[in-house]
Amino acid sequence: MAGSGPSGARRVDDPPEVRDALPTHPEPVVRLNRAVNLADVREAARRRLPRPVFDTIDGGADDELTLTRNETAFRDLLVTPRPLVDVTTRSMRTEVLGQPVALPVLLAPTGGARVAHRHAELAVAAAAASRHTVYVQGTVTSWSLEDVAAAGGGSSWYQLYLPADRSRTAAMVDRVVAAGYRALVLTVDTAVFGGRERDRRNGTALPVRIRPRLALQGAGRPAWAVDFVRGAVQLPGPLSGSRGLSVRATQEQILASPSPVTWADLASVRALWPGPLVVKGVLGPEQVQRLLDEGVDGVVVSNHGGRQLDGVPATIEALPAVVDAVAGRAEVFLDGGVRRGTDVLKALALGARAVMIGRPYLFGLAAGGQAGVEKVLDVLGTELDRAMALSGCATVADVDAGLVRRVGR
Ligand code: FNR
Repeated sequence: MAGSGPSGARRVDDPPEVRDALPTHPEPVVRLNRAVNLADVREAARRRLPRPVFDTIDGGADDELTLTRNETAFRDLLVTPRPLVDVTTRSMRTEVLGQPVALPVLLAPTGGARVAHRHAELAVAAAAASRHTVYVQGTVTSWSLEDVAAAGGGSSWYQLYLPADRSRTAAMVDRVVAAGYRALVLTVDTAVFGGRERDRRNGTALPVRIRPRLALQGAGRPAWAVDFVRGAVQLPGPLSGSRGLSVRATQEQILASPSPVTWADLASVRALWPGPLVVKGVLGPEQVQRLLDEGVDGVVVSNHGGRQLDGVPATIEALPAVVDAVAGRAEVFLDGGVRRGTDVLKALALGARAVMIGRPYLFGLAAGGQAGVEKVLDVLGTELDRAMALSGCATVADVDAGLVRRVGR
């Protein structure tokens, strides 16, 4: 499934029997190739996906106040460059939880990547590995966690949703350990699902199934429809629980009834997981001390991309107080609304170790599979490199709080 590309990087492809048995339809590579920024990639995806599928990725909760704010709050931060510094030689390299990465942009966990492209998590993991960064594989997946770990070449992290039946947690964690994931990310902001009104209007629920309305909309999106069907031919097997624990059953439980994570759960996961542990979904300093006391190694300042509680702060607004409270005792990450290299620069300046992106790479995946995800990382990398050069930063260590200030609206 994942072979070696011309550059030696792993590349995900269909097995020959799938490739040869089905007609090939041109994918919108031209549009993707022409994309100069992440807004263009989103547009390429919008043209390829049926509306309900696009909305299920693009949308947020309720009035989408937080979704919008995640992006606009970055615009309220201004950068003050430091010229007269020799930035001829630059590096975006950094370390996340002891793991070297080529750029401080990681790929956040997103359940349901399969609706964007049949290669789904395999392609995302392979793209992250080819660009020397981290993909956080989610519990909600269409490929087995072992296959995704292999596609990521040992660089991926795993995001855990706890099974409603907690007696199964230990077996799940054991399986994640055995697969070689480097860090475990416990998402804590999904006590119940957010109110996704676009999905309700469209009649969409995850996992997306072919229903009459979707089939109709898919007719206007033939490349997507062919991909979806090819995926259906290809998929049976990898999702199965053939390695001792049914991932499908776990997912169905999670999707049917998300289960609130408590401090007791955190303590038990900490006891089970031997590696670095990250808690995702922190928005304020109040829980920080206790998280550190529980042995957490990292926190992700995240509002789930504005998909859970609407009306919470933008993550870039919430970041400084969390960074202060953590005071260097753990690594702080941020996700939500990162769309430009300058957004990455601003997050680093305010104390994030690295950022994560969600929707942008799903749109890249939708528009061009693995190459689309790589394109998104390349665009952000190019933009960050340029922003660093223009602001007088040769390395990420040079990016500090003095670089940015907030303006009123
Ligand atoms: C998500 N996110 C998410 N988070 C998580 O911990 N587990 C999950 O299964 C999912 N699933 C998911 C699906 C889709 C379609 C999206 C868009 C997002 C949230 C994700 O990890 C991340 O927090 C946000 O996507 C970051 O915001 P941006 O980059 O999308 O603005």
